[in-house]
Amino acid sequence: MSSQKPIKVALLGCGTVGTEVVRLLTDQAADLTARVGAPVEITGIAVRRPHKHPDVPAELLTTDAEALVASDVDVVVEVIGGIEPARTLLLAALRSGKAVVTANKALLAEHSGELFAASDSSGADLYFEAAVAGAIPLLRPLRESLAGDRITRVMGIVNGTTNFILSGMDSTGASYAETLEEATRLGYAEADPTADVDGFDAASKAAILASLAFHSRVTAADVHREGIASVSAADIAAAKALGRTVKLLAICERVPVGGADNQTTENGAAITEGISVRVHPAMIPKAHPLASVSGAFNAVFVEADAAGEMMFYGQGAGGAPTASAVLGDLVAVARNRVHDGRGPRESAYAALPIRPMGQTPTRYHISLDVADRAGVLSQVAAVFAEHDVSIAAVRQEGRVDDASLVIVTHAATDAALRSTVDKIGGLPVVREVVSVMRVEGEEL
Ligand code: HSE
Repeated sequence: MSSQKPIKVALLGCGTVGTEVVRLLTDQAADLTARVGAPVEITGIAVRRPHKHPDVPAELLTTDAEALVASDVDVVVEVIGGIEPARTLLLAALRSGKAVVTANKALLAEHSGELFAASDSSGADLYFEAAVAGAIPLLRPLRESLAGDRITRVMGIVNGTTNFILSGMDSTGASYAETLEEATRLGYAEADPTADVDGFDAASKAAILASLAFHSRVTAADVHREGIASVSAADIAAAKALGRTVKLLAICERVPVGGADNQTTENGAAITEGISVRVHPAMIPKAHPLASVSGAFNAVFVEADAAGEMMFYGQGAGGAPTASAVLGDLVAVARNRVHDGRGPRESAYAALPIRPMGQTPTRYHISLDVADRAGVLSQVAAVFAEHDVSIAAVRQEGRVDDASLVIVTHAATDAALRSTVDKIGGLPVVREVVSVMRVEGEEL
């Protein structure tokens, strides 16, 4: 047994994740004591309805979260979710010098500035590994292991619900609506799936990833967001025909800032680089490591100058996997307490500007139903040329009276690509724009 005085922990929330945190802390008490150098003890658990928690010791339960945070604890672990009351409680904890471990992606994505300021005011730790991609060790690698490198791109599948739906559409050919219904029936999608299918959950995670990767403060409002509701069976079929698959991707990357933009730093130096942070469905080649991530799994592909390419893969949600990440953070902050150390602070010194989606370089796949006669391809190609969009590949499959024309572009600004598609849709020779999808994960 350790002779050190215990690290006292307040737990805020005791749902699926909180219950697993209590279980792991209890089951592994001896090991955790040895790893930390002091016992780690929960001294209170704040919940709204104590009678709903028969599996945790009744004497620990309280409905007064504010008093629990104000009590004599060293660490506050928050697994309530949502902005309030979590924000107020965690600010109070940090300002009074209590370390915070949180799984709250929405809070971090919207209020990281004030949380880090509160953490700095007292020197208290703020850890949030469980906020992105559940069990997968990802934020610590970005914050610490890769802190000496220059990350150029982070691209990931960070929402299991949408990945489950898109994988289902890919394997059965069914529509989005049918597959969502099935996912809801099986418990993979929430009764109200908006936060997942419309990309809000992934956008919060993208903001956190971009902030850490590029040493810049990025909030959820900075993230361009498109969900999966408009992904059709035709999009999936078009991707398959080209040896690709459709994924909802969170993409954070460095992009050049054009000279015409004339952006300067506070000191007047020209800004040559910005960041694009976006969530949208995209086609990726079947050979890309992210393509084989199916079902509710998460994976994040990271590219850095010195390290090269890396992929982080695992369970992105669920009680025990998320609790694993919470416990890892808890051990880290408890060790810091025991050894009078401190974890990393906010690193936002680079303050790279966020590029609007319209000015972000992307590539499109466009599938058209066209009349099959002389001059059609040249009319379509002329619209690309007019918008300064370079075509990388064209494939036509003719039928008796009509043809399917598939075009994949080189990179151009998203605004130019969008205008090109709009104009092509209005050409009399184009019967239908069957599928439009961004292409990621390959250079052309
Ligand atoms: N709802 C998320 C998902 C898990 O479907 O992956 C929590 O972020």
